[in-house]
Amino acid sequence: MVLKTIFAISKKQNYTMDFNLSEEHLMIRDAARDFARTELLPGVIERDNKQEFPAEQVKKMGELGFLGLMVDPKYGGSGMDAISYVIVMEELSKVDASASVIVSVNNSLVCYGLETYGSEAQKQKYLTKLATGQSIGAFCLSEPEAGSDATSQRTTAIDMGDHYLLNGTKNWITNGGSADFYLVIAQTDKEKGHKGINAFIVEKTWEGFEVGPKEDKLGIRGSDTHTLNFNDVKIPKENRIGEDGFGFKFAMKTLSGGRIGIAAQALGIAQGAYEMARDYSKIRKAFGTEICNHQAIAFKLADMHLEIEAARHLVMKSAWEKDNGINYDMSSAMAKLKASKVAMDVTVEAVQVHGGNGFVKEYHVERMMRDAKITQIYEGTSEVQKIVISRGLLRD
Ligand code: CAA
Repeated sequence: MVLKTIFAISKKQNYTMDFNLSEEHLMIRDAARDFARTELLPGVIERDNKQEFPAEQVKKMGELGFLGLMVDPKYGGSGMDAISYVIVMEELSKVDASASVIVSVNNSLVCYGLETYGSEAQKQKYLTKLATGQSIGAFCLSEPEAGSDATSQRTTAIDMGDHYLLNGTKNWITNGGSADFYLVIAQTDKEKGHKGINAFIVEKTWEGFEVGPKEDKLGIRGSDTHTLNFNDVKIPKENRIGEDGFGFKFAMKTLSGGRIGIAAQALGIAQGAYEMARDYSKIRKAFGTEICNHQAIAFKLADMHLEIEAARHLVMKSAWEKDNGINYDMSSAMAKLKASKVAMDVTVEAVQVHGGNGFVKEYHVERMMRDAKITQIYEGTSEVQKIVISRGLLRD
């Protein structure tokens, strides 16, 4: 078919590529931006210094619907799409990446997993509380010897007939000390490898569950990261998620969506640092003029903006795929890989633009540089994202 015929057909059928945000998306952006400025910004430096969990702010975010953004309203959620989730994550992360990771884990690793794969009873009992922020969730996959190599689970859940008996240790768990409900991945049958892994809902108050030491971290210091120990914790049978042996796939599927959230977090950190560098360069003077008038600085701003826009397109595309029922395993890995690298590069440059002021806490960008690093590590390191992308390419 000649090209002009194809184009005429597509025009007739109204096929367009639309880069605009809808009115609703713009309103969601403004609401999240307003919340970040008024509720997260005051005290963000202090919380970082003290490694203080933003409990009050998390409570407010629950009330406003930020903790169950994509959950169906019948379970107490906000019923939004993944594009809205990205927008909210970007706005929160521009100001406070510690608060935004709490939102991300609760939304995409916990609520999404439960809503998509949980039983109706599990949704009624747990999701309704998690989506409204009455309770906080955590996702427990990593172990001392199972980080990137997630199939090497040592935590065991032995089938005892009427319950499972959970034993083991989980590491670097976001919301570890503050959560009420934990999605725990464990080996139920070692012989079966990844097909012998299951996911369970565990309540904090159950006997044998112990919240271990809090990590003293480089960045996202306001988020609450702990080791968790399980010693003969009895899990009722009905708290297993999905069919027997579904746990590894549950973790992988859930993480694919989680990676969109972390990519959006990285995007927000980068955008926030860029805006600070841009604004600072317009007021700071050197050699008789504002430093933005020096090409050395103007070119840095141009590079930062360019890279952020490139990352934003990947992040939005992945969210769009999720919203449209297209497999997003590869696109979310690409979005996270790119956005996290951009976050790291842009924050380093933002510190550089600020000069000596960039090295002190008052100016925020040093915290953003420290916060950016984790986006290249959690929910799959950059190297893991390359495994996912390259396997996806070679499978096609
Ligand atoms: N969806 C469905 N199934 C999937 C899948 C996906 N996205 N990815 C893999 N699988 C399936 C495979 O098809 C395979 O099943 P079959 O044998 O039936 O075909 C099975 O899972 C095993 O897959 P692989 O052979 O690819 O597994 P692997 O051992 O080579 O590991 C990996 C692959 C991509 C490296 C994976 O282990 C991985 O993602 N590791 C990183 C884990 C991670 O992201 N951890 C982050 C911790 S959570 C966190 O950080 C949260 C926080 O608190 C912020």
